Amino acid sequence: MNICVVGCGYVGLTTGTVLSHFGHKVTCIDIDEGKVDSLNSGKCIIHEDGLEPMLQKQLECETLKFSTDIHTHMRKNEIIIIAVGTPSNGTGQTDLTYIDQVIEYIESLKADQHFQTIVIKSTVPPGTNDYVRNRLLQSGRDKDSFSVISNPEFLREGTAVYDLLHPDKIVVGGRDPLELELIRKMYGYLPSKYFFTSPITAEITKYASNAFLATKISFINEIQRICEAYKGDVSVVAEAIGCDPRIGPDFLKAGLGYGGYCLPKDIQSLTHSAIDKGIVPSLLHAVERVNHSQVDLYIDLLEKEMGTLKDRDITVWGLAFKPNTDDTRDSPSFRLIDGLVDKGSEITAYDPAASGTPKAINVSKDQYESVKGSDVLIIATDWKPFIEADWKRVKALMKGSIIIDARNCLNASIVRQAGLKYLAVGRH
Ligand code: UDX
Repeated sequence: MNICVVGCGYVGLTTGTVLSHFGHKVTCIDIDEGKVDSLNSGKCIIHEDGLEPMLQKQLECETLKFSTDIHTHMRKNEIIIIAVGTPSNGTGQTDLTYIDQVIEYIESLKADQHFQTIVIKSTVPPGTNDYVRNRLLQSGRDKDSFSVISNPEFLREGTAVYDLLHPDKIVVGGRDPLELELIRKMYGYLPSKYFFTSPITAEITKYASNAFLATKISFINEIQRICEAYKGDVSVVAEAIGCDPRIGPDFLKAGLGYGGYCLPKDIQSLTHSAIDKGIVPSLLHAVERVNHSQVDLYIDLLEKEMGTLKDRDITVWGLAFKPNTDDTRDSPSFRLIDGLVDKGSEITAYDPAASGTPKAINVSKDQYESVKGSDVLIIATDWKPFIEADWKRVKALMKGSIIIDARNCLNASIVRQAGLKYLAVGRH
């Protein structure tokens, strides 16, 4: 198949690379020339396990290339995958500007175009597929010359290649069952559970998935607060309830809360879509409220321990929104750092991969160097090198001895054996 993927973000880049690995001829489009040049030279622009070697192999086989020339490639290819960003417009509503730009390009293609399948992979509010289809019809495009399919992506950052190769489900929102066959072929007939449904149902499925994950996290974070008040242990509660197959063990790690490009904006977008139809999304509101106030638990804990936080030297390990990624978008660690800076603390941060840093802080290139002379060390992201840190070395380098485990990921007794004071919320 000849495929054009529009947008070289996490979803577009990984999807394009994996589809070419399945044997298709793929061209990925992006407006950023620098990004396109790097990718064409085999340099992956994101920290994603297994992506760079696959990308280099596919470039060598000449089944994958990157380009800024959207016009030429859209015209030539039978499948156009839309994987552009759908950010929040600031009020929670999804901004469809980039989707609109792609439609404008498709509208401008000649009417005698061969049949084209437009696959919407970007996360879009319910009704977007119909909107795209109607716009193309209104622009004069013959209804028999194209189809618009919703095929939401469920990959996680950090394990995106694995998730694409081992999907637990593939959701196809379309109008003709033949479209399911086309998507199955596109994915190299991967063994998976396929759902063929309406575009609206496919669109809602994506939001429901992320909303449920966020709900699980906020649920366990609320239980964490109750554990803290009664001196219980949230880690044991989570492990025990997770044994029940109706609950399951995943997404029950209490801590600083969820972040990243997807969960926060998708909860807000779903909330917005609900309100648009006169529904009061009480649960979604609560999920967000709990998530946003998680950072306060840790700042309160530290204030209770130290009194004022003014002029305290605090080291934060972890800037990425989760381990194994360089992504810092909507990172809870940034929210924590902002809160501490407001209290007058001096912050030094270290992260093994983070691509961005908050303003007005020192960033260290070395994990151990970063704790030199610090009063407090906070673990804000559960990276493996933090979990396996040499705590005796940390103790020798620090001025103070407080370790705050804001991800409930450390072995408290190992930390204490090194002569450090281990603090967490809801772990007694
Ligand atoms: C998410 C969905 O998991 C994925 O299916 C979808 O396609 C895109 O959005 P991602 O953004 O990569 O993926 O992050 P995810 O692994 O879901 O983690 C989100 C956040 O929740 C992170 O900040 C993480 O630290 C936090 N989290 C996760 C918890 O606080 N506790 C947990 O138990 C799990």
